[in-house]
Amino acid sequence: MNDRFTLERRLPRDFFDATLRADVLQGLAEPPRTLPPKWFYDERGSRLFEEITRLPEYYPTRAEQEILTRRAPDIARATRARSLVELGSGSSRKTRLLLDALTAAGTLQRYTPLDVSDSALTEAGEALGRDYPALRISAVVTDFEHDLALTDEPGPRLVAFLGGTLGNLDTDGRTAFYGALRRTLSADDTLLLGADLVKDPAVLVAAYDDSQGVTAAFDKNVLNVLNRELDAGFDPDAFDHLAVWNTAEERIEMRLRSRAQQQVPVKALDLTLDLEAGEEIRTEISVKFRREGLTAELDAAGFTVRHWWTDAAGRFALLLAVPSR
Ligand code: SAH
Ligand code: TRP
Repeated sequence: MNDRFTLERRLPRDFFDATLRADVLQGLAEPPRTLPPKWFYDERGSRLFEEITRLPEYYPTRAEQEILTRRAPDIARATRARSLVELGSGSSRKTRLLLDALTAAGTLQRYTPLDVSDSALTEAGEALGRDYPALRISAVVTDFEHDLALTDEPGPRLVAFLGGTLGNLDTDGRTAFYGALRRTLSADDTLLLGADLVKDPAVLVAAYDDSQGVTAAFDKNVLNVLNRELDAGFDPDAFDHLAVWNTAEERIEMRLRSRAQQQVPVKALDLTLDLEAGEEIRTEISVKFRREGLTAELDAAGFTVRHWWTDAAGRFALLLAVPSR
């Protein structure tokens, strides 16, 4: 390990435990049952997500990679960023395209990846440290829905939010997120946002319910997290994974459906869940966007979209936006 890579845990020690408990009490105790997506990403979950990105059905990673490969030099030129801050950075694999372009442009000094997953940040940081010897890497374990504060990163800053993770927030969540981001950005900073686009529902459903069952294993992993962290008694095999296209909301919904009537103890909360046969837990949403709607919601939040790029097949969009006022 070298001193160019640091990992800071910015939230109080008990934050994750306290929020997990609150999320389960609030979301799972009664129908309609839901869980927030950040609990997927323990070490196994982060691994499974990496596997998802390589599945034939999961096109978003390859589509975004295609756009980044083509546009990274434009992004470097347009931003002249001295810091790259990345929200939900995961393995930082696609990020290398940005790091390469910003290094070639001679402006980049610092990379600040931010994620809830300790293990993903550590693995990514160590590999990047070896491959980018001039770069300072300041990883931060935090929750971007709760804490977005940028600290001493030298400006201009480029804040990247890739992978379509924006779509995992609902309308209210996105509004809160844009507001917090806008408050922390300065006039010369830039937002780089990846967004998956509305398309044939069959293509979308397959991307979230692959034939090898990797996405099903990823979805069910959240139950293992609850078993471990809250001494719960879920049997992952007692649930089916479902991906459903919600036409009205234009989003994919991931659900776990109870195969039978069952009682599940959550011992750390002194709680027993009574699940009917066929009852569903919604574990994730993935909103799909249209250019007009996304541009308008960013505009309302104080961001002007300067560039809008898609892959050749028009499946995924990458946009650059700047503070408008
Ligand atoms: N950017 C990567 C990973 C996308 S998966 C890519 O494009 O492939 C979503 C990532 O966001 C995961 O690494 C997950 O750990 C992280 N994440 C999810 N919710 C989060 C939250 N509330 N705060 C911080 N990170 C979060
Ligand atoms: N940000 C990813 C997306 O919405 C997360 C994701 C991919 C995901 N596949 C999933 C979340 C399956 C839950 C279940 O595309």
